[in-house]
Amino acid sequence: MKTNDLFYLILVFFGCTFGCQKIDKIDKTDREVTRLTDQWEFQFQDTLENEWTTVTVPHDWAISMPFDKSIDMQEVLVLEDGERVPKLRTGRTGALPHIGKGFYRKTLQFSNQDKGKKIFVQFDGAMSHAKVYINKEFVGSWPYGYSSFEFDITPYIKYNKENLLDVHLENKPLSSRWYPGAGIYRDVRIVKTNPVYVKNWGTFITTPEITSSKGKVNIKTNVQNDSDQPKNIEIIQSIFYKNERVSSNTKTLKMGVSDQEIEMNLEVVSPKLWSIETPNLYQVVTQIAVGDEIVDTYKSQFGFRTIKFTNNEGFFLNGQHVKFKGVCLHHDLGPLGAAHNTSAWRHRLMKMKEMGANAIRSTHNPSDPSLVQLADELGFLFVAEAFDEWEEAKTENGYNKLWHEWAEKDLVALIHRDRNHPSLIMWSIGNEIREQNKEDGYKNAQFLTDIVHREDPTRPSTAGFNNYKAAIDNGLADAVDIPGWNYKPNKYKVTHEKHPEWKMYGSETASTVSSRGEYFFPAKEGKHKIRPSLQANSFDMDFPNWAQTPDREFKAQENSEFMMGEFVWTGYDYLGEPTPYNEEWPTKSSYFGIIDLAGIPKDRFYLYKSHWSDEKVLHLLPHWNWKEGQTVSVHCYTNYYKAELFINGKSMGVKSKNPSKLYDTYRLRWDDITYHAGEVKVVALNEKGEAIAEEVKYTAGQPHQLKIEVDRSEVKANGEEIVYATVSVLDKNGVLCPRANNLITFDIDGEGTIRAVGNGDPTSLESFVDHQRKAFNGKCVTILQSSKTEGTITLKANSAGLVSAEVIVSSKNSI
Ligand code: GAL
Repeated sequence: MKTNDLFYLILVFFGCTFGCQKIDKIDKTDREVTRLTDQWEFQFQDTLENEWTTVTVPHDWAISMPFDKSIDMQEVLVLEDGERVPKLRTGRTGALPHIGKGFYRKTLQFSNQDKGKKIFVQFDGAMSHAKVYINKEFVGSWPYGYSSFEFDITPYIKYNKENLLDVHLENKPLSSRWYPGAGIYRDVRIVKTNPVYVKNWGTFITTPEITSSKGKVNIKTNVQNDSDQPKNIEIIQSIFYKNERVSSNTKTLKMGVSDQEIEMNLEVVSPKLWSIETPNLYQVVTQIAVGDEIVDTYKSQFGFRTIKFTNNEGFFLNGQHVKFKGVCLHHDLGPLGAAHNTSAWRHRLMKMKEMGANAIRSTHNPSDPSLVQLADELGFLFVAEAFDEWEEAKTENGYNKLWHEWAEKDLVALIHRDRNHPSLIMWSIGNEIREQNKEDGYKNAQFLTDIVHREDPTRPSTAGFNNYKAAIDNGLADAVDIPGWNYKPNKYKVTHEKHPEWKMYGSETASTVSSRGEYFFPAKEGKHKIRPSLQANSFDMDFPNWAQTPDREFKAQENSEFMMGEFVWTGYDYLGEPTPYNEEWPTKSSYFGIIDLAGIPKDRFYLYKSHWSDEKVLHLLPHWNWKEGQTVSVHCYTNYYKAELFINGKSMGVKSKNPSKLYDTYRLRWDDITYHAGEVKVVALNEKGEAIAEEVKYTAGQPHQLKIEVDRSEVKANGEEIVYATVSVLDKNGVLCPRANNLITFDIDGEGTIRAVGNGDPTSLESFVDHQRKAFNGKCVTILQSSKTEGTITLKANSAGLVSAEVIVSSKNSI
């Protein structure tokens, strides 16, 4: 990023919209951005004075420590779950030691050449109650662990000397409803600039008019003059598409010693639209020139697209109707904990894309900035959520303690950071806020909606409401631009009738619970079903009291063309909130995910895929290892209209989709089948009754061998990129042993390390950082990370009595 050492002449082409002219400027850009990743020292609690361990950031101090039932046990009344008496919840926040104080420190060097520059330390998020010190002097604090923030540390710096950056964090008990993570779990950067500079997160780019021939671009830039005298400056805005400059403009002005918002307009000829299918992105390069020198260069990404929310026809992107096929995602990465890793997130979002999802709701807090960046690049609509709690407490030490001092600052920080992203369509100011139950609760909603309108007039505010009646009666639903409904498919029609002007969507839907590979017969709705195994049915019909099956929401959405779509709770399992086993131990992670905690798709992945994607899906469940003669249910998640089932070649009948029955609308079902070992086969049929596709499952024999499948065979040698390696236990014919729980050990050799292991079992208390893992229903995952050196990474999986497996991944500097 450092460019100021490279004195070079660049040609700046000015003002193609305002007449083209050409002048020479010397690029002496002072902006230098350095990620602080390595050589941090860390100490948990302050009792062990001087016992520091070296860590890399992003870092989650709790994820490598043992689970413990007693951590953050919460005796609470969860109104949102319909409870009437408090319950003692174990594992609600993941049962990992995230409570307490964490201390980080790192030495920084600043040379005499840095004198006169502005120096900032910037955090994408630190969990939580961050206090930042330089050379033992207090610089500032930011308590909300999910917010991005920065401090100007210029006055505290000693030049040509070692400087000490200290970050003190503290997570309080009873402060979260899920695993929040612990530590500096997102990136930290040092940003150096000239004293005349564009403020970080200081541009706001909008596209007030888009036609096929031109796109108008309005750029508001927050420029700061921190030098000791007024300056004549030029501000040069250039728009690039794939490295080609497509427009530019310049403005000259005199700046006092202050900050100033400078507004400029540009035009792009034949703008390429950003869409879900073709996520075209543009870049604004803002340069500040003082005299003949360019002293700062700041880059912002944006896109051309229009969004329209309607009360009776749903949502439109670029004039095209799009229904939200969305997922809610918490911020943790399962076995990696909360420590952010962009390549792991890319992997996750690609899986969501494969399923046919087109939208993400970042629940219930500001995400890492790279998530909305990935949404831009991969083509997802994005709902950025700010809060799960306002003034009224859900947890004793939750956001209610910060509300008065911080709500505006946190919301503004989020909006300023993310408002240029074309993927971002709504600002969610809250989720299931308890103000719903207060007569004047609308006031806080109005306060936040006003901030949204002030900071970003181009996007609506929204919130997820669960308390249907109260949210309407108390005026909250009216105090946001777009009310979102959590778990109310049976209310869509009546709400639309009563409030035809409202534009609505399902902000949280389904909350079906399932455990990968766990099947219970008969397959039927299981409302708040508690099973002795502490597992949930993979037939995707188990759900807590307030929730539904995917099928029920699909139906409600289809019958309500005015609804803009849904956001399923959740795309991935997450740490904490092990509903319905909130009081049972050992459970410590959710059952809500379409994909399990380790990253392996559950059956539900194929139900959504069959409904959401254009690809043909024929997915048979359950596995085929039962007791001879036992009565079983067989379901097929498919977008084929009809299919025939065969057991060992004998037909069990043809089933067709039947929209008059909920559970025959999106799946084909053969209940009351007598199990015989061998094979079960489903054959999809066309209207003429001809076979057009088939899927077979075989009865597995004894575990015999291991197999490793990797999500990528090449990885970047940057010390950060992640490979997901899924290990399966197979019989001698290569059939998955669907109940195998063999202990598998991993050997790694070459240019990589094992970052984490997992198997998706919500009841497992095995460590995520071991080099071994038991299979859960035949599978487990090891997550590899490249080193910074090119080469190969060899992973070997071994298990007593089984044939080992090996895989080689190549790690390259550029891929
Ligand atoms: C909702 C809540 C989510 C999660 C979910 C589980 O009420 O917004 O955070 O708790 O329930 O169904």
